[in-house]
Amino acid sequence: MDRIRLIGGNELNGEIPISGAKNAALPLMIASLLTDEPLVLQNVPRLADVKLLERILENHGVDIAVHGRRRGEQESVGQTMTFHAADIVDTTAPYDLVSKMRASFWVIGPLLARCHEARVSLPGGCAIGTRPVDFFIYGLEQLGASIEIDEGYVVAKAPKGGLIGGLVHLPKVSVGATHTIMMAATLARGVTTIENAAMEPEIDNVANCLIAMGAKISGVGTRTITIEGVEKLHGATIDVIPDRIETGTFAMAVAMTGGNVLLSGARAEHLQSALDILGQVGATITNEVNGIRVQRNGNGLQAIDAEIDPFPGFPTDLQAQFMALMTRADGVSHIRETIFENRYMHVAELARFGADIKVDGQVATVTGVPQLKGAQVMATDLRASVSLVIAGLAAKGETVVNRIYHLDRGFERLEDKLSRCGAEIERIAG
Ligand code: UD1
Repeated sequence: MDRIRLIGGNELNGEIPISGAKNAALPLMIASLLTDEPLVLQNVPRLADVKLLERILENHGVDIAVHGRRRGEQESVGQTMTFHAADIVDTTAPYDLVSKMRASFWVIGPLLARCHEARVSLPGGCAIGTRPVDFFIYGLEQLGASIEIDEGYVVAKAPKGGLIGGLVHLPKVSVGATHTIMMAATLARGVTTIENAAMEPEIDNVANCLIAMGAKISGVGTRTITIEGVEKLHGATIDVIPDRIETGTFAMAVAMTGGNVLLSGARAEHLQSALDILGQVGATITNEVNGIRVQRNGNGLQAIDAEIDPFPGFPTDLQAQFMALMTRADGVSHIRETIFENRYMHVAELARFGADIKVDGQVATVTGVPQLKGAQVMATDLRASVSLVIAGLAAKGETVVNRIYHLDRGFERLEDKLSRCGAEIERIAG
């Protein structure tokens, strides 16, 4: 199993190109199931989760083509891919594929809408809480589906003639349930209203793709989304938005090490709450035409409290990275995680660097220490793994991060991007 080895202490300076967003690319790929015409996605990141979803979609009968890089185009440019679901040959998404990544469960919406039936294994993914699927079941039932759980599978059937528009009031903001119900409703008869919908930028990206495919959707970017069903969707070409979590992660890395880095392609409005907090802890954030510049001089970091909330709040996917940053701050910081109940598994690993963190229910209290020391650590989930890299970049001596397959699920060429900016970091194979 690959590991990452790094020696802390170097500043980061230069430019880091931000890749396409994993959390937008995945539902966009799934949207291809809604039409028999090709869907072209540009700026798709090269990630293990994308590869895994390709296998799942191919199993349903989707033809997938990756277009070659054009001459002179850099490696940092994302892939252009075509997804063509001319015929859906299988409406079952099997356990061995779905159990590896939670987002693959979302195929249930488009399959049910287009084929009027779906049999999808209960999901797996990062172990960051119980992550049930009750909102999906409730939402699809509101569109007229009948649903049973059979041997670990969710078996969904639409009424004769297909799904029927309805009112879906989500009990709690859910990104996945919003994507799935929105996609399913595009082909339902009549109007669907999703109340308490997610407002994450990835929802906008998917809604804009569906609209380009002929869907009638309004209210995107608010808590109420309305979808008027249409009979058929057609092909489209759409860009995957830049990854705001990758952006925030590198911004925190620079805040941690000091230096001056342009995060090219990044969009500040997608992570303003996190950038505001970074400004308050001591980084200088500047919006430039082609990205966001993050700088920190040699001065210390200020401790600050942060509450994790759905967008536009501080993202849960940056909580672990922010905690790593606060381990070196001057003073005591409190972090309240309100989205997932078990997203503090990185705490024990950060302690191996000498960090002082106490967890009480939803709240982590981080008391800054003057120096972290390099350590052997274990990646526990996707975002937690990268928090260990951030800690290692500032720690004295050598750090080895084990089990980095988690990192490869969501970060494209991480060690390459960091080493080009001056970090001493390498991947050790095997
Ligand atoms: C997505 C993101 C993930 C991010 C999360 C929250 C992708 C591929 N993944 O995950 O990176 O951390 O949003 O921003 O985009 N819940 C239920 N029942 C349900 C569905 C959700 O109780 O049926 C709960 C979850 O356990 C959690 C909360 O709702 O407590 C929000 O989860 P949700 O927004 O659905 O997360 P995902 O869509 O899985």
